Amino acid sequence: MKTSWTLKALLVAGAVFGGLTAMADPIVIKFSHVVAIDTPKGQAAEYFKKQVESRSKGRIKVEVYPNSQLFKDKEELEALQLGSVQMLAPSLAKFGPLGVKEFEVFDLPFLFDNYDEVHKVTQGPIGQSMLKKLEAKGITGLAFWDNGLKQMSANKPLHTVADYKGLKMRIQASKVLDAEMRALGANPQVMAFSEVYQALQTGVVDGTENPMSNFYTQKMHEVQKHLTLTNHGYLGYALIINKKFYDGLPSDLKSIVDVSVKQATDFGNKIAKEENDKALAAVKASGKTTVYVPTAAERNEMKKALVKVHSQMDDRVGLDLVKQIYKETGFDPAKL
Ligand code: LMR
Repeated sequence: MKTSWTLKALLVAGAVFGGLTAMADPIVIKFSHVVAIDTPKGQAAEYFKKQVESRSKGRIKVEVYPNSQLFKDKEELEALQLGSVQMLAPSLAKFGPLGVKEFEVFDLPFLFDNYDEVHKVTQGPIGQSMLKKLEAKGITGLAFWDNGLKQMSANKPLHTVADYKGLKMRIQASKVLDAEMRALGANPQVMAFSEVYQALQTGVVDGTENPMSNFYTQKMHEVQKHLTLTNHGYLGYALIINKKFYDGLPSDLKSIVDVSVKQATDFGNKIAKEENDKALAAVKASGKTTVYVPTAAERNEMKKALVKVHSQMDDRVGLDLVKQIYKETGFDPAKL
């Protein structure tokens, strides 16, 4: 009798303790990305982690895996759909293989001149309706995050369009970027971000395009002798979360995630330009890469060659969407 009461007491204590432990186990959000911590996206991800963890008082733990530590470009989208990670912020150029080709509209060369024009699209109704398109893929689109305008680099000076002829240029997996490089006479090569440094070092590719923050933090300036400040295209991100995971969050925690997304978006988009400016200064200071500013005539020549890509890609990204963006930003291809 006595033994059985002791046993019962132990079982009850065990159940209570077990229950408490289960309650105390935090919900884990694995957030994977491919860039360095010291970039607009890397910092926004860290900021998001801090916001969520402090607001949820430890009920949610955000594990950020930068620098392709966990997954490379293509794998990370598969991992998100399978639920092996819960959050990502892939560049907008990387949604084509997922079947959401509209996102490649952001890759159209010279579509945006500055962040204000980008924000008219990403932070407004067009951006919202684009994020909704991800739902069908089991993904919830939470926000758009900036990096910035891209620059071109190679081991030879890039001044005129003719300078790109025959160069093997690394691109992200976007058909629009493929068309862009071909319009310059270059040979585009799709490659995961994590492999770019080595490919440039060993001559597998001759050059690449990226905003300064990525160029500098991946040490591309060590393996590229020439950089031209072309500002010829935009690179940004969609912050995304596995839909099933997100929908299954208790409502108070979901609100915490939403508020933290908003805060991290404001923070990341505020520092993006600064980070790119700092990276440019650091590349200049390194003395390893010549930084060239194209003349007005050179930039215009490039613009004329590249804006042709817009009409070539209408079918892929959707003519209506392109027109809506032109209307929002005031871009008029006929005015070149
Ligand atoms: C690239 O692959 O060049 C970029 O998309 C990497 C990134 O996430 O900024």
